[in-house]
Amino acid sequence: MNDKTELLHATDGDEIPSNTSNNPLFADILARRMSRRDVMRGGIAAAVAGVFAGTGASALAAPGFLPPQAQARAPFGLKGELGFEPVPVSIADTTVVPPGYTAKPFLPWGTPICGDYPEYLDGGLNTGADQECQIGSHHDGIHFFPLGEGDEANRHGLICMNHEYIDQPKMHPNGPTLVGGVRVIEDEVRKEVAAHGVSIVEVREVAHGDWEVVKGKYNRRITASTPMKISGPVRGSDLVKTKYSPDGTMTRGTLNNCAHGFTPWGTYLTCEENWAGYFANRTGRPREHARYGVATGNSRYRWDTVTHIDEYARFDASVKGNSATEDYRNEPNGQGWIVEIDPFDPTSTPVKRTALGRFAHEGVVFAPVQNGQPLTFYAGDDARNEYIYKFVTEARYQPGRTKGDILDKGTLYVAVFNDDGTGEWRALDIKDKAFRDAAAAAGVEFKDQADVLVNTRLAADVVGATKMDRPEWGAVHPQTNEVYFTLTNNSTRGGATNPVDAANPRANSAFGHIIRWREQGNRPWALRFNWDIFVLAGPVEDSRKLDGEPLDETNIFASPDGLWIDYNGVMWIQTDMGGGQQRAEQDRFGNNQMLAANPYTGEIRRFFVGPLGQEVTGCITTPDNRTMFINIQHPGEGGESFPQLASNWPDGGNARARSATVIITKDDGGVIGS
Ligand code: FEO
Ligand code: CA
Ligand code: CA
Repeated sequence: MNDKTELLHATDGDEIPSNTSNNPLFADILARRMSRRDVMRGGIAAAVAGVFAGTGASALAAPGFLPPQAQARAPFGLKGELGFEPVPVSIADTTVVPPGYTAKPFLPWGTPICGDYPEYLDGGLNTGADQECQIGSHHDGIHFFPLGEGDEANRHGLICMNHEYIDQPKMHPNGPTLVGGVRVIEDEVRKEVAAHGVSIVEVREVAHGDWEVVKGKYNRRITASTPMKISGPVRGSDLVKTKYSPDGTMTRGTLNNCAHGFTPWGTYLTCEENWAGYFANRTGRPREHARYGVATGNSRYRWDTVTHIDEYARFDASVKGNSATEDYRNEPNGQGWIVEIDPFDPTSTPVKRTALGRFAHEGVVFAPVQNGQPLTFYAGDDARNEYIYKFVTEARYQPGRTKGDILDKGTLYVAVFNDDGTGEWRALDIKDKAFRDAAAAAGVEFKDQADVLVNTRLAADVVGATKMDRPEWGAVHPQTNEVYFTLTNNSTRGGATNPVDAANPRANSAFGHIIRWREQGNRPWALRFNWDIFVLAGPVEDSRKLDGEPLDETNIFASPDGLWIDYNGVMWIQTDMGGGQQRAEQDRFGNNQMLAANPYTGEIRRFFVGPLGQEVTGCITTPDNRTMFINIQHPGEGGESFPQLASNWPDGGNARARSATVIITKDDGGVIGS
């Protein structure tokens, strides 16, 4: 979901900023660091040229790499070289790929995948029951789990993908039906709930670049109402006890699933981002609601107004009963987590892994595994001025034996970026004396680790974490272990609490950048790191690549969001300019796009442009890197506010636009990006 949408579609957007702490803003640190380096080295170019002496040739000499994907091994080493002809910006209502490549829509919203396989009907005519057996809306994070051995693994597998939110007006023939502010047609709400969540679908290649749904046993929808286990330190806490789960061990549904992750043991991780607005609390918000922006008036889609059905009434988090087990005051505490799903067991119950913290999770990515060492997972909190976290497991990784419960014990850390290019990870752990001292100094009390985790943002505030410009996706280079994160933009920069620094070359952070860091000793579980800027996005006159040169017409972009380093070492950057930014900047940036970057050299080329009004998000290939799946979310940008962004993609004619996956192949069968 993008930032600007909220300003114009008040019910659909990201949460409003809720960080009122006095922690340093990353933008200010960057300003100080870059201005100082500017003086020291004679230019902004030098400031972004890299502090990692080991990057490049010496990194290439690192030990051989096998991608840590379940059941898949890339048949070649990493190169990261770009071989395609860059495409120009586009404002066409179609997909654009380089010469020699083909893009084809796949699995659009409404594609039947299970049950009676109900066909998609244009015009919002499908029922709630239909939607429960169809691909959801607003495709986002995506992963491909191969089925079979050898080349079969490149032609047959399970696609797991997130469905972040909905364009409510497009869901029904005439939009949502409200009478006196109340949702009076229950089936509309059932359909909206079912359009959220995750799709798991078996797919098979039938011809080069042409895939079909297999009507197999794995196909499954997980929605905003699917029962889920609560696991880790928060399990059984008073903070998650509800009328539905008086012992605090279960909750229902996963909301606003943005980016994703997967695990070395072959499970899918879905991440709950802008979930707070789905709830309303009209009786006074406790800190675990207020710090996340739970609404005090109307909930986003007003599902809570269907008061006679418990399934929907639970979105009203107001105090109504005598205790937490008589109402849904704690229902929002069941959201904001990373959820583990086993795609290979269609009867399995999704598990909320609470040790990884509660915030507006964009996605989660793990560092390359090392046998006999802890696992490290990185995750960003995508809201203005929020933080970047990592989780280090207590147990050590043992291939073939490690399972999901390794995620239930470990230490959650938050990042501090110092202005000298160093950084540190500070523990958010009640057993850690420094954390307890920081909390005491801030006058903040935490009862136990469950309390810390339910209030992750507050815990990060008290240890002095660095406020970031909306952390979106992360990617870890599989050979160098360098971690890359997109920082999409920050519309509050320049306001009273985030003053513009005259020395800051990025006085306007409208375009975003990509930060990277290397952990001390190249150990993912280290407590210190060195950081740098990989690219400052923006127009030609306000951007810098790793080599110090500005972006040009072959690669200008704004608002980086999706990020993935493929099995060949190419980094894919996807953009999410909001509707307002797209409208204002259409002439120079065109529609949202995807670029390829060489992490070693910093070279960037535009590879793909999507149709009107959408964002490009989610990227995965088959293990041989020869079939790529990306997602196109909200073509048309959801409403009448942006007539020049209106779209009929992918069906054309007068059909309503719908989110969809896109399959990209090279016509000669070669590696994508080569
Ligand atoms: Fe759902 Fe942060 O994008
Ligand atoms: Ca975004
Ligand atoms: Ca995103």
